Amino acid sequence: MCGIVGYIGKKPVVEVLIDGLRKLEYRGYDSSGIAINAGGKIKIYKAEGKLQNLVDVLTKHTEETKTAKIGIGHIRWATHGAPTEINAHPHTCTCGKLVIVHNGIIENFKELKEELIKKGCSFRSQTDTETVAHLIAQEFAQTKDLTQAVRLATKKIQGAYALGVMHQDLPGMLVATKRNAPLLVGIGEGEFFIASDVPAIIEHTKKALYLNDNEVVTLTTEMKLIDAENKKVTPKIEVLPWEPVALSKMGYKHFMLKEIHEQPDVIRNVLSGKLYNIDEPISLKEVKLTKETLKNLHRIQVIACGTSLHAAMVGKYLIEEFCSIPVDVEASSEYIYRKNVTDKNTLVIGVSQSGETADTLTAIKQSKEKGSHILIITNRPDSTMAREADSLVPVSAGIEVSVAATKSYTAQLISFYLLALYMAEVKGSLDEKTLVELKKELIVLPQKLEMILSNKEQIQKCAKAYANHKDFIYIARGINFATALEGALKLKEISYINATGYPAGELKHGPIAMLDETMPVLSILMQGKVYEKLLSNAEEAKARNAKLIALTNSSDKKLDELFDFIIKIPEVDEIFSPVIAAVPLQLLAYYIAEFLGKDVDQPRNLAKSVTVE
Ligand code: AGP
Repeated sequence: MCGIVGYIGKKPVVEVLIDGLRKLEYRGYDSSGIAINAGGKIKIYKAEGKLQNLVDVLTKHTEETKTAKIGIGHIRWATHGAPTEINAHPHTCTCGKLVIVHNGIIENFKELKEELIKKGCSFRSQTDTETVAHLIAQEFAQTKDLTQAVRLATKKIQGAYALGVMHQDLPGMLVATKRNAPLLVGIGEGEFFIASDVPAIIEHTKKALYLNDNEVVTLTTEMKLIDAENKKVTPKIEVLPWEPVALSKMGYKHFMLKEIHEQPDVIRNVLSGKLYNIDEPISLKEVKLTKETLKNLHRIQVIACGTSLHAAMVGKYLIEEFCSIPVDVEASSEYIYRKNVTDKNTLVIGVSQSGETADTLTAIKQSKEKGSHILIITNRPDSTMAREADSLVPVSAGIEVSVAATKSYTAQLISFYLLALYMAEVKGSLDEKTLVELKKELIVLPQKLEMILSNKEQIQKCAKAYANHKDFIYIARGINFATALEGALKLKEISYINATGYPAGELKHGPIAMLDETMPVLSILMQGKVYEKLLSNAEEAKARNAKLIALTNSSDKKLDELFDFIIKIPEVDEIFSPVIAAVPLQLLAYYIAEFLGKDVDQPRNLAKSVTVE
């Protein structure tokens, strides 16, 4: 979480920094700040709340900022210290000449702070970050070399960090480093950028260097890279696979709505190059699972957080169904704090939109140490997780700006269909006819989503009718239990309405006690083997006066009598219904939040990339 950006070059630095921070707002947005070197002096501007507040502050200082050509900026998601102006980054050393921005958590900051106070440093904020500013300044006082000061100071730090550092007396130098937090250097014509993520720099350059942990980069008129032991490193420059146009709303009111509408094309994109022809095998070029490896697998563990965890739950169902290999799914944050019995006969699949989620990354590293094959399903083939992978399934959803995941979820689902079919083909666990039938259904999913997207009025009507309810229950069974969880999560995230997903059979084991005429119960009622069972569970809710909504692909007449509101979606084989059912639930959450006037793309307390445990 938190976004950092830095610039050294000939452009007006304030514009570059603010523009970069705007693109990183998805990482946190409770306060922001920049530091520049203007006329040989470090100047710092900060504001609480949204980035616009900082922009308003800066408009009063255009004269003093206009000539600056070097600076660092930060957008914060508070971990240590409230989201106030004083705790906003950048932070400085005691004399104010050395200034830093930081993303991550300094775990030993209390011990470091005590020592630094004893040495005479005076602290202004409650943040862990300020410790690092003092620590680097102490080293700088000894070495008079900013690169070395950063290298030596970070050796004393425990935890995660990406840092951008400047010193008043070195107006032509920007230093950056990282450990367990993302940071890249953008390389332009006679200019350099640092950023937590690609969107902050993609409008300026497509050439970049991804820093490895503990490397320190020094940017002046040239770039120098060293490792933790002060050895020179040759930078590995990459071409970024992003287009600036992806960051525009393209006429939609919110990024979330635009991203929901992109889903048919996203699915086509995920399938292209992997499923050429229904008669040919699935091609996953970066998956290195041989027949031998699959034969020796005892089990598969899938680890993920949030929405990615829900995609993983669908993935479990598919792999067990198509490949008959037992699959466990677990939240990464739980996985990492218990005895890890993973081994070389376990395939560990990490699922993450961002590829940077701290809990999932830690879980992956733990299982890698135990010798497991690591397969990563991510939307960011340039991410830290992708770099840790033995096998990779890039989900190709394109950049997702809205904090609430939508298109990345359906792209993860499609990736799981492809992976499960691929494994079934390698293992020989499905017959040819079934494989062809499944592939046929898979390739027509985009058209079915287009039908849903062209029939949004029914969902808007439902949103309007139910927006003022305080609680919601989503029920489903089988493969769509994950859909219920994901639908409820979407509603919680962007409308702040309390919504819970249950396996419908569990309703009578407790949650039914909450039902009365004030409680809407939304049933994900897809045709298939649990249809009748779910219908009985809905009847039980009706008997307790709950208001019943159905999301269904059935034309069953008895539904009209039972349900207060019906959202109708196209027919599909039950195994593919999670894809079809996810989209109307995303739209329902969107329209409820929009109707309630919520900040859809930047919901309170959330950040898109959760890089702290
Ligand atoms: C989704 O709407 C959420 N923003 C959140 O649950 C997210 O899915 C979770 O933090 C995991 O992120 P990742 O997929 O980038 O690992």
